[in-house]
Amino acid sequence: MIKTRITEQFGIKYPIISAPMGPFYTTELTIATSEAGGLGVLSHVTLRGLNSIDDFKSNIDQVIEHTDKPFGFNIRTARMQTDHKILLRKVLQWRKSDPKIREQMIYGLTSAGGARVARKIWDKDKDLYHFHVAPALWLVDKVVDLGCHGIVTTGTEGGGHQSYEKISTMVLLQEVCNKYPDKLIVSCGGVASPEGVAASLAMGADAVAMGTRFIASTESEFHQNYKDLIPPATDRDTELTTGGFGPIRLIKNKYCMEHGQVISKNQKIAQENAYELDEWLEDLKKYEIVYTKGDVENGAIPVGQSCGLIDSIMNVGDIITEFTSKAEELLKNVSSRIS
Ligand SMILES: Cc1cc2nc3c(=O)[nH]c(=O)nc-3n(C[C@H](O)[C@H](O)[C@H](O)COP(=O)(O)O)c2cc1C
Repeated sequence: MIKTRITEQFGIKYPIISAPMGPFYTTELTIATSEAGGLGVLSHVTLRGLNSIDDFKSNIDQVIEHTDKPFGFNIRTARMQTDHKILLRKVLQWRKSDPKIREQMIYGLTSAGGARVARKIWDKDKDLYHFHVAPALWLVDKVVDLGCHGIVTTGTEGGGHQSYEKISTMVLLQEVCNKYPDKLIVSCGGVASPEGVAASLAMGADAVAMGTRFIASTESEFHQNYKDLIPPATDRDTELTTGGFGPIRLIKNKYCMEHGQVISKNQKIAQENAYELDEWLEDLKKYEIVYTKGDVENGAIPVGQSCGLIDSIMNVGDIITEFTSKAEELLKNVSSRIS
């Protein structure tokens, strides 16, 4: 058994978290991960129209109905994500009014924007662990100053939206563990093997979060065509392009290659300011066609470089138990070499 500050404080068995993957649904994945002893995380979904608040709540209810284990959720605080402020307040209300939600939904992860507003609202709720995704050390400094409980250090090799900074998980994690040993730290981006788990823990992480590895799982609700892309993909099959909130790592398909290389942050902000709601919704349709029709050629397919490490679709429980027991072996093996 591997014990870390996160397994102890969250009351989970394994230091493995399923990363949020909005706008896609990860509700089944959350249930499977938490049931298997890790920590499942609900995504900030926007695929079923604009009624994200009711959708968010029904995902929470579905998890509570199927497991009594702890789980978390993600809220993207990007400017373009216009529902984030109301959601930040709603989750507090739900935690306050429902003892099951308060007991189980213990981890709130903000990302894709700042942590300030969330920190201000969530400061009232002392029992909710607030983590923020930070892709570079100067951003981690801000998150720590604001008083978040923990940091998800996400390197550029990860799937989905990434920062303009393009720092690898290997470098970022070492920087953060050295500078903030007292903070709870999750290693994320490019972790999809027992070796990745062992290395992350050895560097000082309290847990790992995996996205791409869990897409290619039996229980995840991603379209089968999406899942099937991952085992044959190599580490060269993804590309950073311009996404809704900045750079996004996608599998190299027609959509990705035609969508354009990453543009600078200033250009992107100017583009966002000029955006009409219709254009934003049009881009969301590129995710919708993947979700509803499995169109993996014309749709947007976020995948991390870690696809090169994955060669089969596995059960969530097997991923979690195999990865931790092999990581344990690897760590024991290393320590046995120390005289
Ligand atoms: C399909 C997909 C959608 C994602 N959507 C989100 C999101 O809504 N919010 C977020 O914080 N991160 C999102 N991410 C990033 C993941 O949470 C995580 O950082 C990433 O998957 C880690 O890299 P890995 O894929 O190599 O494990 C997404 C990633 C993928 C693959």
